[in-house]
Amino acid sequence: MNGRCERLVRTLREDEAYFVTSPENVFYLSGFSGEGMLLLAPDCAVLITDFRYIEDAQNRAEGFTVEDIARGIWQIVLENIHTFYIEEEHMTVAQLRKYGRPGLRLADGGGKAIGALRLVKEPEEVEKITKAADIATAAFERVLGLMKVGVSERELALEFEYQVKKAGASGVSFDTIVASGPNSSMPHASVSDRTLQDGDFVTMDFGCIYKGYCSDMTRTVAIGSVSEEQRRVYDTVLKAQLAALDAVKSGASCAAVDAVARDIITDAGYGDAFGHALGHGVGVQIHEEPRLSARSAQTLGDGMVVTVEPGIYLAGKFGVRIEDLVVVNGEKAVNLSHFTKELLIL
Ligand code: GLY
Ligand code: MN
Ligand code: MN
Repeated sequence: MNGRCERLVRTLREDEAYFVTSPENVFYLSGFSGEGMLLLAPDCAVLITDFRYIEDAQNRAEGFTVEDIARGIWQIVLENIHTFYIEEEHMTVAQLRKYGRPGLRLADGGGKAIGALRLVKEPEEVEKITKAADIATAAFERVLGLMKVGVSERELALEFEYQVKKAGASGVSFDTIVASGPNSSMPHASVSDRTLQDGDFVTMDFGCIYKGYCSDMTRTVAIGSVSEEQRRVYDTVLKAQLAALDAVKSGASCAAVDAVARDIITDAGYGDAFGHALGHGVGVQIHEEPRLSARSAQTLGDGMVVTVEPGIYLAGKFGVRIEDLVVVNGEKAVNLSHFTKELLIL
């Protein structure tokens, strides 16, 4: 059994097991990224998959016994197991019906227990996230070189995707956002055929996946010229972002870090135009714990990887978001987003 699984099963009784079905937790615990599920009991780690993936699973899932689902799950499950801890936020009603049976208790808590492990990244996870961030930043630099009047959002997003895959990423970590001109007031705008115009702000939010780990970063740049209002909004977002980055410390409450950025934006008169949380954890998923939001009860700790991404969005006009990815490390977070935040006018 590998170290992560050992830590997970440490508190289980002899007749209890984790039944893991979400792709992200299957990958996190086993290294296997095909279709399958895990059974983790105090003394056994079983990966159940089908014919298509058996060989790959045997190669990847160190410390696991690989079983073919064709045998039938109840032939594989050890007879002495009476409780399955499931991922209550992931399991579907159909799965619940399928895997429920007399004498077997399906208990909540699997997702929470695995989530607690995933919250703090091991050094090898930070390395992969760092590499994903570096690949994405280099691709962004290439895309910046193409940004000019007449080029479409779609062309720029496609170029980013091409560049990250060419550099070894398995893909993008979410649909790339290239939001130009009035589209930039929509925090998660879909890429369109709109072409860049003089005076546009262009918000590009991008990331890629390297060896299963995601990156996430945003920059807003201007095309040709900027108005006074654009500059004022940009400077406000930047001020909020820098202050929040400074507040990312081990032991800081996530809600307090969110408030640092929100207060600056509110004091500048744009409080209503910053309607999303300040940031989120990043790992095998693009959005994971902890959440840097006003409602969060979480506290930051060393090894957590989070984004810091305040924004101001003025409907029908323009928007600005600046996002860095950082690793919590004592008093000063390590910033993985190595790209200027000075306002670039291209
Ligand atoms: N890329 C989505 C986000 O920044 O949360
Ligand atoms: Mn992002
Ligand atoms: Mn983000």
